[in-house]
Amino acid sequence: MAKKPVKITETILRDAHQSLVATRMRYEDMEPQLEALDKIGYNALEAWGGATFDTCLRFLGEDPWERLDKLKAHLKTPIQMLLRGQNLLGYNHYSNDVVKAFVKKASEHGVGVFRIFDALNDVQNLTVAIKAALECKEKPHVQGCLVYTISPYHTNETFVELAKKLEKMGVHSVCIKDMSGLLKPYVAEDLVKKLKAAVKVPIELHTHYTSGFGSMTYLKAIEAGVDIIDCALAPFACDTSQPCTETMIATLEGTVYDTGLSRQDLIPISKHFTEVKKRIIKEFNLKGYFDVNPSVLDFQIPGGMLSNLANQLKENGMEDKYQDLLDEMPRVRKDVGYPPLVTPSSQIVGTMATMNVMMGQRYKMVPKEFKDLARGKFGHAPLEVDKAFLHSIGVKDEEIITDCAVEDAKAATMAQFKEELTGKGYSNVSEEDILSYALFPQVAEEFFKAKGRM
Ligand code: CO
Repeated sequence: MAKKPVKITETILRDAHQSLVATRMRYEDMEPQLEALDKIGYNALEAWGGATFDTCLRFLGEDPWERLDKLKAHLKTPIQMLLRGQNLLGYNHYSNDVVKAFVKKASEHGVGVFRIFDALNDVQNLTVAIKAALECKEKPHVQGCLVYTISPYHTNETFVELAKKLEKMGVHSVCIKDMSGLLKPYVAEDLVKKLKAAVKVPIELHTHYTSGFGSMTYLKAIEAGVDIIDCALAPFACDTSQPCTETMIATLEGTVYDTGLSRQDLIPISKHFTEVKKRIIKEFNLKGYFDVNPSVLDFQIPGGMLSNLANQLKENGMEDKYQDLLDEMPRVRKDVGYPPLVTPSSQIVGTMATMNVMMGQRYKMVPKEFKDLARGKFGHAPLEVDKAFLHSIGVKDEEIITDCAVEDAKAATMAQFKEELTGKGYSNVSEEDILSYALFPQVAEEFFKAKGRM
């Protein structure tokens, strides 16, 4: 049989610590092992984007752009970032001008793989970011995502149709992004087979171990022809994170799928990150581990958010409400047309469900973001939201949006954000700082002041 080596993308520098320790890994925690990681032969090292940008500014006192520069200085392996299309890394939709500037700067600073997704799988929200990434002069790899979810609307066929659209948009690969670990092994096998038959670009699979399927799902996907899998090194593997790198390498050794990567070379790296994890858990008083939870199939909460929710409830002394919240999530999700639950829809639905549970009455108070999601400000939901429901939460007919691109055009431009910062007394502001400010205005402003930049 012909050899068909499976490639591995390592997530320990981004998703793995986002999922297990609330994204609190510092650059200093990574640096001692960067050169060793670089020599392994990974397809890519996911190290930027997702929640890292926000966490750097908000909690770690690190400039995310400087972190990227430092990573790039040590790594020849492509650095992968996770980007939320028109949403970038913030919690709003941004103007096309801001999206283009962000992608261009990220590429200049060293992002080699742009993994781009939209929470609602609305391709309209991916168009500008994908095009901008394809036009970068550094020629980064551009990957489009199928955000995997289970609902009465979603089938493997709907995902194949989406993959065809992404391929037409010019992406270099397609990722099945299973952020909550919902993809069952035999469903994965069927989905990968169908995708391989329908599109020519490589297929990557990203899952979380939340419900305990991870390694089985990877194995069936590999047998069905998946090209790349996302894994995390042992100390940051499984639980709500990715399947274990070392385990997958060992599983495939001596088969036609042999990754060719050395498990021996990973031992000292994993040893280092075992100590890092212990330190982070202690410093930030985190839980750090999660039981396997097969009921994720019903409540569908992404790994990162599950850890944040558990920590939030713990802080508020409301651990006993956890199950009520998990039960309320799918009900709220149904009301807004079955969006996949991933940032920002997961936060919006999660917050609404939390309020419903805490107040003991559904939709007594409705946050603006939830109304925006329901009325289409962030794009089309998979299924149309019931008008009677929209009226019941206070949305008027004229507030219902059919084309969110029209709304995006009204969002602030780079020049406007620059003017705002200049008005606050920040002269000679860099384009990077304008972008940080555009994404997280208050947090960035405090950060700039703390660093003496304004
Ligand atoms: Co993930």
